[in-house]
Amino acid sequence: MHADIVVLPGDGIGPEVAAAAVDVLQAVATRFGHRFSLHEHLIGGAAIDATGTPLPDATLAAARAADAVLLGAVGGPKWSDPNASVRPEQGLLAIRKALGLYANLRPTKPHPAALGASPIKPHLLAGVDLLVVRELTGGIYFGDKTRDADTASDLCRYSVHEIERVVRRACLLARDRRGHVISVDKANVLETSRLWRDVASRIARDEFPDITLEHQLVDSMAMHLLSKPRAFDVIVTENMFGDILTDEASMLAGSLGLLPSASLGDDAMPGAGSTASGRARGIFEPIHGSAPDIAGRGIANPYGAILSAALLLRHSLDLAREAACIEAAVDGALAAGVFTADLAQTGAAVSTREATTAVLSRIETACQVAE
Ligand code: NAD
Ligand code: IPM
Ligand code: MN
Repeated sequence: MHADIVVLPGDGIGPEVAAAAVDVLQAVATRFGHRFSLHEHLIGGAAIDATGTPLPDATLAAARAADAVLLGAVGGPKWSDPNASVRPEQGLLAIRKALGLYANLRPTKPHPAALGASPIKPHLLAGVDLLVVRELTGGIYFGDKTRDADTASDLCRYSVHEIERVVRRACLLARDRRGHVISVDKANVLETSRLWRDVASRIARDEFPDITLEHQLVDSMAMHLLSKPRAFDVIVTENMFGDILTDEASMLAGSLGLLPSASLGDDAMPGAGSTASGRARGIFEPIHGSAPDIAGRGIANPYGAILSAALLLRHSLDLAREAACIEAAVDGALAAGVFTADLAQTGAAVSTREATTAVLSRIETACQVAE
C-alpha cells in the first residue's frame, strides 16, 4: 500500500524519538512491500521560531491531507514564559481540535522484563493491561479563558454530544477487550462530572448491555490505579483527568517514555466508514513531553514513539499485522534488557539510537511471528 504520513518532530526530545519511529516505519514498509511517503512539518516551539505561530497553516493543511500524523513532542523552557503571547502547546491543542480527534487512546501493559523500573511492587503489576480513553477536544482545556490583574479563570464545559461519543468509543473498545469500563469523574463536586456520569450510564445501559460500566471518583481512582492496577480494563475520562492519570499509569510500565497514544476522530469509528481515502485519520504520539532535562543528549527512550507508530499502522492504515510486528520487536528488545537510562536500574544504559537499532534488528523475526 501507499500512504502519506505527516511527521511533526516538534521540540526537545521530540525530533529524537520521532526519528526512531520513522526508521521503524520505513523498515516495516520495506519488509511488507509498502510505500510510506513521509513529509516533515513544523509544530510547537520550532514552528514559533520559524513562523511566529505554533501551528502554521501549511502544517494543518498537510495533516488534513495525510493518511496519518506522527508527532514527537512540543514545548520547552525557551517558550514557557507565563506571559508569552504564543505557546508551543497551543499548536498541539489546535491540531487535535481541528482534526476532530476527540478520543485519545493510551494503553499501558507493563513488560515483565521492565517491572524493576516501576516503583510499584512487582506482584501488583503482573497481568496489568489497561486502556485509558481520554476525551481530548473538550473540557477545561478548551473552555473560555480570562485573565486580568488579580483574577484568572478557565471554564470547564462539556456537552452531551461530547460525552456520548467518547463513552461510546470506550465501550466499543471494551468489547474487544474484557468488557469492563470504568468512567472516572468528580461528580461529588463538578456539574460537568454529574452530566458526564448521567450520559455515560445512559449510553452503557441503552447501547452496550454486554459491557459493565462502573463509576469512580478521580481522587480515589488515582490511588486505586497504584494499589490494584489489575482491576482495570478500559478507563474513560475527561480531558484533564485523563492527562494526569496516564502519566501516573506510565509508572506501572516503569517509564513515561514507554507509553504510546492514538488520537482518533469519528472516521475511525468501527463500522462508521472512514476518510475519502478509505482510511481513518489520527495523530499518533508518545504521551510524554519534550523532556528538556535530557533533550539533545541522545538518551531518550524511543519505545513510546515507536509503539505510537505501531498504533498508526493499526488504526490509520489498517495494517494490524505490521503493527503487531513492531510491538513484538519492542517486546523483544525489552526482554533482552535493552534499556535506556530511564529504565536501566543498574549497569549500562543504551542510547536512543542503540535502542532503535535493537528494535530494527528484531523486525524480521518479529514479523515472521506476526504473520
Ligand atoms: P515531560 O514528559 O517532558 O518529562 C517528564 C519527565 O519524564 C522528565 O524527567 C523527562 O526527562 C522524562 N521523560 C519524558 N519522556 C521521556 C523519554 N522518552 N525518555 C526518557 N525520559 C523521559 O514533562 P514536563 O517536563 O512536565 O514537560 C516538558 C515540556 O513538554 C513542557 O513544555 C510541556 O508542555 C511539554 N509536553 C508536551 C507533550 C506533548 O507534546 N504531547 C506532553 C507532555 C508535556
Ligand atoms: C499530553 C500533553 C499535552 C496535554 C500538553 C502539552 C498540551 O501533556 O499530550 O499529554 O495536556 O494534552
Ligand atoms: Mn500530558
